[in-house]
Amino acid sequence: MALKITVIGTGYLGATHAAAMAELGFEVLGLDVVPEKIEMLGRGEVPMYEPGLTELLRRHVAGIEGSSGRLRFTTSYEEAGEFGDVHFVCVNTPQKHGEYACDMSHVDAAFDALAPHLTRPALVVGKSTVPVGSAVRLAARLAALAPAGAEAELAWNPEFLREGFAVQDTLHPDRIVVGVASERAERLLREVYAKPVGAGSPFIVMDYPTAELVKTAANSFLATKISFINAMAEVCEAADGDVVKLAEAIGHDERIGRKFLRAGVGFGGGCLPKDIRAFMARAGELGADQALTFLREVDSINMRRRGHMVELTRDAVGGSFLGKRVAVLGATFKPDSDDVRDSPALNVAGQIHLQGGQVTVYDPKGMENARRVFPTLDYADSALEAARGADAVLHLTEWREFRELDPAALGAVVSERRILDGRNALDPELWREAGWTYRALGRPQA
Ligand code: UDX
Repeated sequence: MALKITVIGTGYLGATHAAAMAELGFEVLGLDVVPEKIEMLGRGEVPMYEPGLTELLRRHVAGIEGSSGRLRFTTSYEEAGEFGDVHFVCVNTPQKHGEYACDMSHVDAAFDALAPHLTRPALVVGKSTVPVGSAVRLAARLAALAPAGAEAELAWNPEFLREGFAVQDTLHPDRIVVGVASERAERLLREVYAKPVGAGSPFIVMDYPTAELVKTAANSFLATKISFINAMAEVCEAADGDVVKLAEAIGHDERIGRKFLRAGVGFGGGCLPKDIRAFMARAGELGADQALTFLREVDSINMRRRGHMVELTRDAVGGSFLGKRVAVLGATFKPDSDDVRDSPALNVAGQIHLQGGQVTVYDPKGMENARRVFPTLDYADSALEAARGADAVLHLTEWREFRELDPAALGAVVSERRILDGRNALDPELWREAGWTYRALGRPQA
């Protein structure tokens, strides 16, 4: 009989995973403790912006005309325990307030709520990003709390999806990493992932701690790569070099690779910043903190980018923001997402605002979230409106819409044709030809 799957936590990761599991042909029950989220998902509506996710969901949510009916949602752990053979735990692990460590309370709560309802053999699969060592602890907790005892087993299966590409990354993963303690667990996960593995995704089996570490190691590497190129941008600025050309040239070396070498205002979001900090905190607990001291540098290079962007802008408008209008294009931490968590764009906008500048922000999808977390900024309904009367325009999130802006049209509404490209994604020639002073991070001024 086909496996039945529950997905616990229906945020970015969980909602996408639940829909993807239904797409792979399984009966799926998604669970969240927030009733409003469950009601929305049950209507086939996605609580965040993620390309392709609404369509995928609507293809499977029960009750939607023409859907497979394989996907349902609930708030009941009892129902989930009865329903599932395999339970994926996809709840979030944010950074603890005022600390580097990650907050495991949602994961712990999910395990505690689910375990008492596991009365028959079941596999609980952790997907959340957790400090190494969590799986061993959670396996013991599961065995102690579940009526099925040792028949309620744990596996760890980190998720590598990127926002903006969540559907594609989930259905066609680069690799599937599973940390298991038994052959049965491996067999069940091979069954779950038979289709992507059949289509070529490597399936890599390992122990719990290695599986947990793969995720934090991968994100640390990516963060390091971005901070490396941003460090080169600092040197380029000092030496009048061009970091965009430099990145292109070193990227042709296949050992280095071209991806993740875009210099700019740095990385943000709900993963990279908090994951490197949690990794450092955990290494400290394990007595291995020296191994990760370089991540402190990665973090501080990254945070310096934001301050540097503010300084460049202040210099550009004459040394003070008082009485100056600044248009900020972009609020989300990356394009094709409405996520503003730890967004460099909003951070820069906020700093300029605090220094007395009059800031107007526009973002294609992130306005609602930006307004909620930063209500004191001004917001406009279009790039053109944001730019009206501006002494400087800042490009801080590289949405396609911004790359396609007409510099002449924007030039007609600003007070000064001055653009600062914080993502090195605009075409300098195009803007300069239209009479703009174009300035970018890590590139020569003229
Ligand atoms: C990341 C990992 O890529 C993903 O594998 C993991 O599962 C979750 O964390 P995500 O946070 O969605 O995914 O975004 P990502 O595409 O990695 O970008 C992170 C940040 O780095 C963004 O703010 C982006 O603008 C920035 N970035 C990325 C750069 O500044 N330069 C680059 O070259 C690439």
